[in-house]
Amino acid sequence: MGMSETKNKEMIFHEIMDVLVGNYGVGSQEGIKAVLTECQKLFDCVSMNHQQQIANVFQLDKKVISAMIKFMPTIKESIVEYEVVCCSGSRCAENGSIEVLKAVKQTLGIDFNGTTKDGRIRLSTQNCFKKCNLGPNIMVNGELHHKMDKTTSIECMKNIIQIT
Ligand code: FES
Repeated sequence: MGMSETKNKEMIFHEIMDVLVGNYGVGSQEGIKAVLTECQKLFDCVSMNHQQQIANVFQLDKKVISAMIKFMPTIKESIVEYEVVCCSGSRCAENGSIEVLKAVKQTLGIDFNGTTKDGRIRLSTQNCFKKCNLGPNIMVNGELHHKMDKTTSIECMKNIIQIT
């Protein structure tokens, strides 16, 4: 899967989420079911990262989302433990993200859209998290880490590698 295809899918997914939360309202289980179905269709699974994003949009705890997935046999949860998404947007680039992206790749020992050999960590990029003033930004399992630089991003990745 190419990087631009991934980016498009993320954008499509966010648009779908916006529409569905508008139709069903925050906290709606029916709305979440609809989003999970769309996520499965787009990505063939629901990653930790996407679960967190759905929880944020529907203003619910992520635990509610994973509990619902267990009752939906057609939905597959991603086996990846850590989803690392680096911002590849131009504003973050102006704030020094090029160095951050390089450091993240080197520390994890993988390229973008790659997964570590043990299958625990997947790395990808997203074009802008709409938090440009706090960039460079890295998202780990749906949680944003702001104002990253070479040192803090290496530290952040080392923490993930060590946690089992
Ligand atoms: S460019 Fe990185 S958050 Fe907007």
